[in-house]
Amino acid sequence: TAPALKTYFNGKFLVGMTAEPSEINNAISQPVLKTHANSMTAENCMKPLAIGTSAGVYNYTLADQVIAFASANNIAVRGHTLLWHQSAPDWFFAGDSTSATYRATVQARLERYIADVVTYFKGKVYAWDVVNEPTSDSAGSPYRNSRWYQVLGADYIEIALRAARAADPTVKLFINDYSTENTDKLARLMSIVDTLLTRGAPLDGIGHQLHITTTWPPVANVRAAFQAVETRGLINHVTELDVSLYGSDPGSCYGTPATGCAPSLTEGTTAYWDSIRAQAAQYRAMYDLFASQPSVKSVTTWGVADNHTWLTSYPVNRLNHPLLFDTTGKPKSAFWAVVNPSFVP
Ligand code: G3I
Repeated sequence: TAPALKTYFNGKFLVGMTAEPSEINNAISQPVLKTHANSMTAENCMKPLAIGTSAGVYNYTLADQVIAFASANNIAVRGHTLLWHQSAPDWFFAGDSTSATYRATVQARLERYIADVVTYFKGKVYAWDVVNEPTSDSAGSPYRNSRWYQVLGADYIEIALRAARAADPTVKLFINDYSTENTDKLARLMSIVDTLLTRGAPLDGIGHQLHITTTWPPVANVRAAFQAVETRGLINHVTELDVSLYGSDPGSCYGTPATGCAPSLTEGTTAYWDSIRAQAAQYRAMYDLFASQPSVKSVTTWGVADNHTWLTSYPVNRLNHPLLFDTTGKPKSAFWAVVNPSFVP
């Protein structure tokens, strides 16, 4: 019989899953969440575009459903996210950008949003992704050239962290980013972190999204990312883990437009099962690493079961089964590889 993941990893890290409100009432995902998770993340409904209707006006309807389900089932909640370039309502930036007061106006809107939202969820979330994906993907400035960066400069990250800390003195504050397993991107993120720490900004940890594949990355790269964080006295969360079945996509597949992506697999074919086996091996290698690193306090998969995952529409529309549970919510090879050292995928 399948052990509960939260029991299997008890004393190591919290076991999290992201979910939409619809999934907490769904016959496939609800039992998986109740059995296996002691942490969860709202996939979309706690982002600024979902909550921040206009200045000072908030919509917590869907987020409240997630919080209520979590609390009824003894599941802790990770807050995701207070600031993200992909979820930035236009009202934050309204006004004459050439006026002398524009920067201060935008900063005040950001500070008010964070103060209000962090206060609302105080005691209900144990960590916040205060800033999501601030790191540049290319050489040069470590900062992503987002609207936030353009208006407030590099200070926007410290402004956000300080506003969150002022509203809740104990919630853990995170910067969350993807591709921390990439050596160059990790160096850029750490240069941002070092600036923040030198300035005494309140930062508790780094979230590693870990959207990975059957063939990338090597364990050593992920270990190096954890160690870079740990060395700076911070903790690690794995925040968005999934293992795409497509290990053979060229780099251009992740460009805009996406070109040359591997063609869709067909369930049940030899190629499909080969990929499922490779996925199980990758999951085992990653969870073995997580369990060996005391600085890793929380590990969240970006989804519950294979019936719902963002990877069926990104980078292109195609079949993808990137999680630990199949489309019916049953444990798959990846699950057994993680919880049973003698299981051969
Ligand atoms: O709810 C609307 C629906 O009413 C509308 O008809 C439909 C038409 O496009 O859109 C629906 O909203 C979509 C939403 O997901 C819910 O399905 C948005 O368009 C779509 O952009 C949104 O995508 C989410 C994406 O973040 C952007 O916010 C994905 O579900 C979510 O998995 C993804 O998660 C991100 C993390 O937050 C940060 N790291 C990367 C990760 C994957 O992109």
